[in-house]
Amino acid sequence: CPVPALAADGQGLDRIARAKGLRFGSALSSNPKGASFDNPAYAALLRTDCGLLVAENEMKWQHMQPAPDRLDFAAFDRMLSTAERNRMIMRGHNLVWHRRKWMPRWVEAHDFGARPATEAARLLTERVESVTRRYGRRITSYDVVNEAVTPETGKLEDTALSQAMGSVEATLDLAFHTARASAPHAELVYNDYMSWEPGNAAHRAGVLRLLEGFRRRGTPVDALGVQSHIITAGPDTRGSVLAYQSEWRRFLDAVSAMGYGLLITEFDVRDNGLPADPVARDRAVANYARAYLDVTLAQPQLRDVLAWGLTDRFSWIEGFEPRPDKAPRRPCPYDADYHAKPLRAAVAAAL
Ligand code: XIL
Repeated sequence: CPVPALAADGQGLDRIARAKGLRFGSALSSNPKGASFDNPAYAALLRTDCGLLVAENEMKWQHMQPAPDRLDFAAFDRMLSTAERNRMIMRGHNLVWHRRKWMPRWVEAHDFGARPATEAARLLTERVESVTRRYGRRITSYDVVNEAVTPETGKLEDTALSQAMGSVEATLDLAFHTARASAPHAELVYNDYMSWEPGNAAHRAGVLRLLEGFRRRGTPVDALGVQSHIITAGPDTRGSVLAYQSEWRRFLDAVSAMGYGLLITEFDVRDNGLPADPVARDRAVANYARAYLDVTLAQPQLRDVLAWGLTDRFSWIEGFEPRPDKAPRRPCPYDADYHAKPLRAAVAAAL
């Protein structure tokens, strides 16, 4: 696929962002035919638009430690070197994804023995240190903990690790304290997908409680990562936006009032309830995203905006939740043929 060196506005998104004191970036993968530097068309988009990068999967625990006695850093090492050669910075995502489904299977099946809390602390400490020590100052921001709150209830999610430790709070605290000690230079982030749609009220409340707890206990957490997998509800994007804005602002203000930084870590748009016609759909998605980004970027400490992929061709949304009408999803700034969409223009305008 031929790719223009720069999109229609003649400027990359990161360049536009830098002019405002912000940074822009995206997730990438290590699949040579996918969203990676090995795919020339995708590499061109990365070079055009990104100053920041994040590995879609390659830093996750089950990828770096597929078995208790097997560490494998090769995929991420390679990615990081390529990013650095291109003068890009990588974020670390993530050290612990606190969901049973996303923990390494061997951790969930582990025999924690006679002193389970000690054994769980050992596993967790080794995991955090193995990554932070290896990459040192090359990684300046980590999602130390990903998704520890159950969206439906706002309660904390148990895993084999937290059960062995005796409490979820103690588990998350240990992850952050270990990260602070072994990567004192790095920004430490709690990352989650509580979003601005009304269905997320319990999730938002749970995240606020968790963040209050971190502060009360003196847990070293610097920022909230707002994943931003936002979802349209129907063609009336303007109506839904007006209804969502004030609650969302209240949430972000509450997070800021506790002294936390904010980042947009995984931005994309799930085009639910919109007609299949790509022109109308893209327009509605762009309007919805613009409204979301405007409210979110109004928080003065928000500096970094990362998309969870640049082109519809490789978006995880397609596999995660295909449209009921089977029309291909269009969640990203570029379409499946690497052409800039209205969503890219909306991001450029919002930065
Ligand atoms: C997703 C990846 O995109 C998929 O390839 C993988 O199969 C599952 O994880 N929230 C996160 C990301 O924090 O790590 C998820 O990434 C998307 C939702």
